[in-house]
Amino acid sequence: TQEHLVLFTPSGKRGRFETGTPILTAARQLGVDLDSVCGGRGICSKCQITPGYGEFSKHGVTVAEGALSEWNSVEQRYKDKRGLIDGRRLGCQATVQGDIVIDVPPESQVHKQVVRKRAEVLDITLNPSTRIYYVEVEEPDMHNPSGDLERLVAALESQWQLRNVQADFSILPQMQPILRKGGWTVTCAVHHADAGSDPQIIHLWPGLYEGTIYGMAVDLGSTTIAAHLCDLRTGEVVASSGLMNPQIRFGEDLMSRVSYAMMNPGGDQEMTRAVRDGMDALFTQISAEAEIDKSLIMDAVFVCNPVMHHLFLGIDPFELGQAPFALATSNALRLFAHQLDINIHPSARAYILPCIAGHVGADAAAVALSEAPNRSEDLVLVVDVGTNAEILLGNRDKVLACSSPTGPAFEGAQISSGQRAAPGAIEKVEIDPVSKDPRFRVIGCELWSDEEGFWEAIKSSGITGICGSGIIEAIAEMRMAGILDPSGLIGSAEQTGTERCVLDGRTHSYVMYDGSAEGGPTITVTNPDIRAIQMAKAALYSGARLLMDKFGVDKVDRVVLAGAFGAHISPKHALVLGMIPDVPFDRVTSAGNAAGSGARIALIDTAQRAEIEQIVRQIEKIETAIEPRFQEHFVNASAIPNSDDPFTTLKS
Ligand code: FES
Repeated sequence: TQEHLVLFTPSGKRGRFETGTPILTAARQLGVDLDSVCGGRGICSKCQITPGYGEFSKHGVTVAEGALSEWNSVEQRYKDKRGLIDGRRLGCQATVQGDIVIDVPPESQVHKQVVRKRAEVLDITLNPSTRIYYVEVEEPDMHNPSGDLERLVAALESQWQLRNVQADFSILPQMQPILRKGGWTVTCAVHHADAGSDPQIIHLWPGLYEGTIYGMAVDLGSTTIAAHLCDLRTGEVVASSGLMNPQIRFGEDLMSRVSYAMMNPGGDQEMTRAVRDGMDALFTQISAEAEIDKSLIMDAVFVCNPVMHHLFLGIDPFELGQAPFALATSNALRLFAHQLDINIHPSARAYILPCIAGHVGADAAAVALSEAPNRSEDLVLVVDVGTNAEILLGNRDKVLACSSPTGPAFEGAQISSGQRAAPGAIEKVEIDPVSKDPRFRVIGCELWSDEEGFWEAIKSSGITGICGSGIIEAIAEMRMAGILDPSGLIGSAEQTGTERCVLDGRTHSYVMYDGSAEGGPTITVTNPDIRAIQMAKAALYSGARLLMDKFGVDKVDRVVLAGAFGAHISPKHALVLGMIPDVPFDRVTSAGNAAGSGARIALIDTAQRAEIEQIVRQIEKIETAIEPRFQEHFVNASAIPNSDDPFTTLKS
């Protein structure tokens, strides 16, 4: 027989194959990524390809009509019954007849690229822990006394090259009726925990299952729980939702929850109950929004800080409340979702990312996975700002990490007019340096307060308070307008030349908005507000500086602000306040919810789990609480901006 050239695009892989070789077979032999659920039986249509005809001068190939076989009856039946896009063929049915160029469209690639972040650094491919396979199982026979499961396992091995397949015990009671119902054909959901472990059958459908399966990526924060429901066959997020962490009622910040557990016998269990109930409710809510059956969720990935981690797992966080802050375990955990009281598929798995140290959790590990400082050429400082700031500093040589207790001021707590980011909250502020009057924007409205239509537009929400990013902008603007001195004191009306500065006890406050005429609130920035922000920003800055000392540098190349809050801070205001070390404005970027992205990466690409476990082992952990330099930096960093950083960017 004759051999012909088969060239695949976009991979560019090529090889020579005998006349009559199915395209799917050629693809497999060349390692071309071409999907198949039915194993080449012409029923799943996952193997669709587009043949190219004519002159491909770039590749030196000319493809003649007839280079691919005519439609056979299986392929024709599929097209007649289910339809195929014009120009598409089933790769498992069409065979090689001449030199041919075959394009594999993105939908037909198993390891399709799902997220492309900074192309040169991080490519995420679809490689989920749980996949589905269709098999034809040999029927039982009086002369061959093997069990149905053994024949199913043999089918997975011979038809899909899966070795040492095990079955979850829960499969056994349902297996026999399912095999018979499907006429000895069955679709299996198989879980691969990681590269080295044996695949486990966790679900069976009679015949060919044409639906999909799902996974959930969860960022369990002290304040909010955010979850993304992902289609494990495409990697796409199909629904996202969030919930206030029900543990809030036991304490706003982490340390108050640790103290709640210390002061109240059984308090840790109460908090475990609360977060697990909330988590289960969130899964139910998202499934309902996406209109999917909850039992189709077969994998879940969680990232969280160490205290949340322990409370979610049912471990008393007592040890995390005192030096030396010992974690029960820092390793990644592979569990069943039901062990965390999450009611999804009964055999669904749960993966919890590793913690970096007693104060630097799996959420920071997730940020490291998504921002990949370990792959960066230049020196990058990544800060995830929340109730605690997790800080990473590094490049491809080494990565350092610490956590710094910023407290909840950045989230609007402990601020006199503070509130969470919600409609009605002031989020952006500008203060005129001459008149010292402010203009501002409110969440839920695109207009500035001095623009026409603003008051009409905010009628329903009103102005209710100021959120974390709003207070930061307000204080930075007050400093730039000369209302505030470097030590953080607000001047009097005479000193500043504005009646907005009023005596308030023994210090002055700045009245940003007086709503009393309309029966609304009066929003002021007080000296205690400024103190709270000074403490928070000094903690953040000192953590970053400490890492720079340890790294032996006095500047960084770029700064990434992660976290929902990070996304709302402008680089200019962050620098005026001295939250972060000096760096040109255009070298400060926002990464959004990087912890959530890290969870999603670990969900859809199992190989990344091994990757982050490896990275975490290599990260050098710095404990801020025991470093004398931290205190020193802290004192200097209380000034606005800091007294020991020249902040050349601001001067230019
Ligand atoms: Fe299923 Fe081709 S592999 S239709």
